[in-house]
This record gives sequence, structure tokens and C-alpha cells, in this order.
Amino acid sequence: METKNQTNDVGPGRSNLLHVAIIMDGNGRWARKRDRPRLYGHRAGLEAVRHLVSCAPKHGIKHLTLFAFSTENWRRPRPEVEGLFALLQEYVKKETAKLVEQGVRVRFLGERKGLPDTAKKIVDRCEHGTAQGSRLNLNIALNYGGRSEILHAVRKVAAKVEKGMLKAAEIKATDFESQLFTRGLPDPDLLIRTSGENRLSNFLLWQLAYTELHFTPVLWPDFKEEHLVAALSDFRQRERRFGAIANKG
Ligand code: FPP
Repeated sequence: METKNQTNDVGPGRSNLLHVAIIMDGNGRWARKRDRPRLYGHRAGLEAVRHLVSCAPKHGIKHLTLFAFSTENWRRPRPEVEGLFALLQEYVKKETAKLVEQGVRVRFLGERKGLPDTAKKIVDRCEHGTAQGSRLNLNIALNYGGRSEILHAVRKVAAKVEKGMLKAAEIKATDFESQLFTRGLPDPDLLIRTSGENRLSNFLLWQLAYTELHFTPVLWPDFKEEHLVAALSDFRQRERRFGAIANKG
């Protein structure tokens, strides 16, 4: 029988180098409070990303996964969508050399096919340019949706069954996980969502099964190292049981 510990690095005894995932929410409200356009908030949000990337490793974070653009975000007004992609382009252009210097390896999670051609090029260039980084893995979820990721993986596994490469009854969680955008990454230990919204919004639905959740009212552009420290300290008070019983000796 398969146990949960056989799946993607879940369970007690794993490394204490953390995987932190963040839903960076509240850019629009931050801008509105200042009577400025939404893109002003996204630009400030990008500053918060820069700040966090530079301080994450010293807090024991090895993997940082940021929700930058969801499959649902295409429904936003066109100028906002274009502005977000322009910001991403600017970030990659200006920042790749610094990311290399900081030992950051960038990977993008999400459906590449749906991206504009310029964004596809930028994404590839950034991944190749930072591939040697080993201090921090920065995963940027772009055109990402948890349900479509699961469907995509199901189709891949089903195709293997159809071809006779795998028996349906013998499908293991690892067969499935190897088809996710997050293949090779441990599941997040901690999910932070800013701006006071308490939901997952279709983010990493499979991967968050045993993740500790931390919700903070701070709007993303205001999220600083002190807020990260508070989230990590909250996380360290949690008793993670992974479905087992409390270990009280
Ligand atoms: C949610 O706030 C934020 C986003 C949809 C975009 C996040 C993007 C960035 C922080 C900048 C680019 C990042 C990278 C990694 C290059 P919202 O607009 O939903 O805010 P609201 O709920 O207050 O309206």
C-alpha cells in the first residue's frame, strides 16, 4: 500500500529548508487608497517581490513560489493585463544579472502555450540565464490555474494508460506529480496570502494538501521582511502531523 510519505517530499523528517508559496494580493486596493491606477499598485508589488527575493534565503527559504498571474486574470481589463506583462518583462530584463549574482534560479509554472510570444521568449531567457542558481529557487506562477494543472496531468497519465505503459490500478501519486508544473519541487510548507482574503483562488490545489496557511491583512506592496518573519514564526508554532497523531512522547 502506498503511504503519504512516498509522495512529493511530504511528511516528518524532511529538510528544514522551507518552501514558501505566496498569493500576492492587494495591489489594486493599495493603489486605490492612494488614488492611483491599479498598475501603480502592481509596480509597488514588484518592489515587494525584489525585497522578498533578496531576504528569503537568510530565513531558511530554499523555494519561493509566487502567484503572479492566474488563468483567470485574463478577464481583467486589457490595459491591466498588458501592464502586468510589461512589468514582468521589465523585471526579467533588468533583474536577470542580479538574480544570477544572488544565486537565484527562476522557473515559471503554468501553461506556456497561452502566453504572448514576447512573454514566452522572456520566460525561456530567464530560465536559461539563471539555471545555475542554487541558493534560492524562485518559481513564478504565470498563466497558472490549479484545476487546469490537475486536468493536464490527468490527461498525461491517462494517455500512458491508453498506450499500455501503466495500469490504472497501479497509478501512484508520484506518476501524477511528475506531470505537474511543480515536478521535482517539494510541496510548500507554508502558504502566505496577503490582503485579508482567506481563500486559495485555484493556486497549487494538489500541492497544498498539508501546507500550513497564514493569512495576513497586509496588502502585498506593504509586505516587508518583518511580515515574512511574523509568518515564519507563526509557522514554527504549528504542529505538523501530516494525518498522523500528535508526537507528545
Ligand atoms: C493581486 O492583486 C496581484 C496580481 C494579480 C498580480 C501580482 C503581480 C505582481 C506583484 C507584479 C509582478 C510580479 C512578478 C513576479 C514579476 P490585485 O490586483 O488582485 O489586488 P486587489 O485585490 O486589491 O484588486
